[in-house]
Amino acid sequence: MGNPSKYSPRTPSYLFPCVLALSFFSLSAILLYKVDDIVSQTKTVVGHNLEPTPWHLFPPKTFDDEARHTRAYKIIHCSYLTCGYSNDASTEERRRSSPSSETTQKCPEFFRAIHGDLQPWVRTKISMAHLAETQKYAAFRVMIVGGKLYVDFYYACVQSRTMFTIWGFLQLLRKYPGLVPDVDLMFDCMDKPIINRTEHQSMPLPLFRYCTTRQHFDIPFPDWSFWGWPEINVRPWQEEFPDIKQGSQTVKWKSKVPRAYWKGNPDVASPIRTELLNCNHSRKWGAQIMRQDWGEAARSGFRQSKLSDQCNYQYKIYAEGYAWSVSLKYILSCGSVALLITPQYEDFFSRGLVPQQNFWLVDPIDLCPNIKRAVDWGNEHPAEAEAMGKRGQELMESLNMDRVYDYMFHLISEYSKLLDFKPTVSSTALEVCPESVLCFADEKQGIFLNKSSVFPSQTSPCTLPPANNS
Ligand SMILES: *[C@@H]1O[C@H](CO)[C@@H](O)[C@H](O)[C@H]1NC(C)=O
Ligand SMILES: *[C@@H]1O[C@H](CO)[C@@H](O)[C@H](O)[C@H]1NC(C)=O
Ligand SMILES: *[C@@H]1O[C@H](CO)[C@@H](O)[C@H](O)[C@H]1NC(C)=O
Repeated sequence: MGNPSKYSPRTPSYLFPCVLALSFFSLSAILLYKVDDIVSQTKTVVGHNLEPTPWHLFPPKTFDDEARHTRAYKIIHCSYLTCGYSNDASTEERRRSSPSSETTQKCPEFFRAIHGDLQPWVRTKISMAHLAETQKYAAFRVMIVGGKLYVDFYYACVQSRTMFTIWGFLQLLRKYPGLVPDVDLMFDCMDKPIINRTEHQSMPLPLFRYCTTRQHFDIPFPDWSFWGWPEINVRPWQEEFPDIKQGSQTVKWKSKVPRAYWKGNPDVASPIRTELLNCNHSRKWGAQIMRQDWGEAARSGFRQSKLSDQCNYQYKIYAEGYAWSVSLKYILSCGSVALLITPQYEDFFSRGLVPQQNFWLVDPIDLCPNIKRAVDWGNEHPAEAEAMGKRGQELMESLNMDRVYDYMFHLISEYSKLLDFKPTVSSTALEVCPESVLCFADEKQGIFLNKSSVFPSQTSPCTLPPANNS
């Protein structure tokens, strides 16, 4: 029997590093496991860990272009470590020094539609129960609390719609620091309105999206393309509009082709667009119908599909696709007579359209003869036709980004007045700030986002016209 005490001093000397190593490894393992866990549960503005919306399926996004650990790092870094530097003091300062003396502009007449869109909740108010029910149809939830933006992501949206829509909210907060009230709202970013007025009449649900119809409760909100649509190279509106307008002026009215032009994708399950293909005959119907191949356009760097080069016709046709189409604003911007085939969907500004004043309404029954009739009228009354086109363009000119933000501002403000609770941040929400969105953006997205970022406004929002009969 040896003397154990002789060895005892040695025991700790090699046990200690072992224990240390062991605890280090298990700590790292736990940490790695934890990180993996966080990464796999963090939902992001680009769609990590999100399924496509079940009511509008599209191929799920893949992120296999990045190595797994790069992605993990990015998710943690962008989601948790980029916000929080924003300076609340400066917000306070701006709030105090906010503009006051200048006479504020009146908002365009179509802003009145805000009252109509929110009418269903004037009496009942909007409760947490409303939001819980609306969540079933929402892709994300936006909470503004104390001038900061928090988002709960439920489903992915196609392409970069979520990113550019969230960016719009963030720029609004930046433009009007201290003015945007606390709010809690549900948003769906897919095309079709979903809250049917008949089916939901007992409990209207307030769901924000890009368009609505007379048969739906959905609340229209400016679509993502005002901040840019990088996938098809459509730049932010404040660049795109002046460019289209300038392009439209390079050819005088008299030199524009006296025919109706349409270019788009006819394969979107839209009966009207299919019907439109039959009108492709210059002499017989006065129309030229062209197929837009986005794949081909992308491969050729979008040179052929530059919007500002598409204003060389005296008449431009607008045909709804799967739902409303963002192309409406670009068509109206051309200064050509916009031939709108009776639209079913409305977006927030289309309520400013007045038939035969700033556009020509085309009845879809007997489509081709009706297009021909419009073209014949215009060719016989060139001055009137040119003036009608001009008024359409002026409507779009009045819709500069300042007015887009003002619309958002008033819609959100009026909506927030209807909430019967004080908005708070949900336990699952993440703060989103401009830095975190830029952090997730790829190079092209980053360029578009940067182009559409704003500075605090020196002027107040325009004043909202009151509801019609109140
Ligand atoms: C709304 O729902 C009613 C009743 O289910 C249905 O008849 C109608 O077609 C729906 N409207 C729309 C626009 O989907
Ligand atoms: C319409 O007609 C033009 C000229 O004939 C042709 O180039 C074009 O491909 C036609 N459009 C479609 C969609 O077939
Ligand atoms: C966007 O702007 C930020 C801040 O000014 C800058 O750090 C970033 O490099 C810009 N991104 C792109 C793609 O231009």
